[in-house]
Amino acid sequence: MPDAMPKPRAKTLPDAQTVTQVKHWDDRLFSFRCTRPRSLRFRSGEFVMIGLLDDNGKPLLRAYSIASPSWDDELEFYSIKVPDGPLTSRLQHIEVGDQIILRPKPVGTLVHDALLPGKRVWMLATGTGFAPFASLIRDPETYEKFDQVVVMHTCRNVSELEYGRQLVESLQDDPLIGEMVEGKLLYYPTTTREDFPKMGRITDNLTSGKVFEDLGIPPMDPKHDRAMVCGSLAFNIDVKEVLEGFGLREGANSEPMEYVVEKAFVGEGV
Ligand code: FAD
Ligand code: A2P
Repeated sequence: MPDAMPKPRAKTLPDAQTVTQVKHWDDRLFSFRCTRPRSLRFRSGEFVMIGLLDDNGKPLLRAYSIASPSWDDELEFYSIKVPDGPLTSRLQHIEVGDQIILRPKPVGTLVHDALLPGKRVWMLATGTGFAPFASLIRDPETYEKFDQVVVMHTCRNVSELEYGRQLVESLQDDPLIGEMVEGKLLYYPTTTREDFPKMGRITDNLTSGKVFEDLGIPPMDPKHDRAMVCGSLAFNIDVKEVLEGFGLREGANSEPMEYVVEKAFVGEGV
């Protein structure tokens, strides 16, 4: 009786992990935590493929930055809810105890290894592009390698900043890195379409010099400044031009330089 056969569930797969926490930030964003496979080693800032089984029992996988640091016992992800998105229209309904699929093959360029040593590292994100930086700002290596860590996160609306804001705030009391973070982490959130104390696109706040003025730091200098970029394709293209204008060069795992870039998502028609 093939019609009555139960559909295969993710937990029947070797790569299944159990959801341990889910938090909805607004109608477009949520974060969740899940168990971590013992064998999974990754560098803070990398991404993996995660997903669910589709209606035909086939894995439906998408790239996701791991938002938790490499030392964490669990894994955290920060996700968009795309109303008609093949994966996130379902993923947004996961609950504690559910299973997700995780392919344990981490990759990515937003890693310390892809940057030359420097004094100050800039983490430049729009939207869910904050996810890899949620990992990196919780990693002691970030504070060992740099004297200052500047996080610029820009979204259209205030509610989209909340995950990042709460995370940054929680770091002060973090038993592992609270002391390392103090005085080193400079957080610069802005909105572009809703009133907020600081506003404007990252590109504009860099080219006008407003962010340097507001934070009391000198303009970017390729001798001292390093940058990691994660946002939409349009943002990545524009911010690269700004960074190149300051004299920074793009690096990769195989050839570390002054800045690195990763797409936060692949847009329609791209
Ligand atoms: P899809 O068919 O994948 O996407 C449908 C459309 O929705 C896209 O064409 C695009 O216009 C839009 N869209 C997709 N993702 C986003 C997004 N994150 N923000 C705004 N618009 C989006 N997504 C996350 O939410 N968190 C992550 O940490 C994350 N990391 C990624 C890392 C990499 C390297 C890449 C390439 C993508 C990453 N994504 C991330 C995007 C993710 O892979 C999926 O696209 C997303 O989960 C939506 O899946 P979907 O099947 O519902 O819709
Ligand atoms: P804006 O509201 O001025 O378009 P999106 O939701 O479209 O991915 O955008 C997320 C954030 O990134 C928004 O604040 C948006 O500003 C900003 N942004 C979008 N495209 C660019 C770009 N090319 N350069 C700089 N910032 C951008």
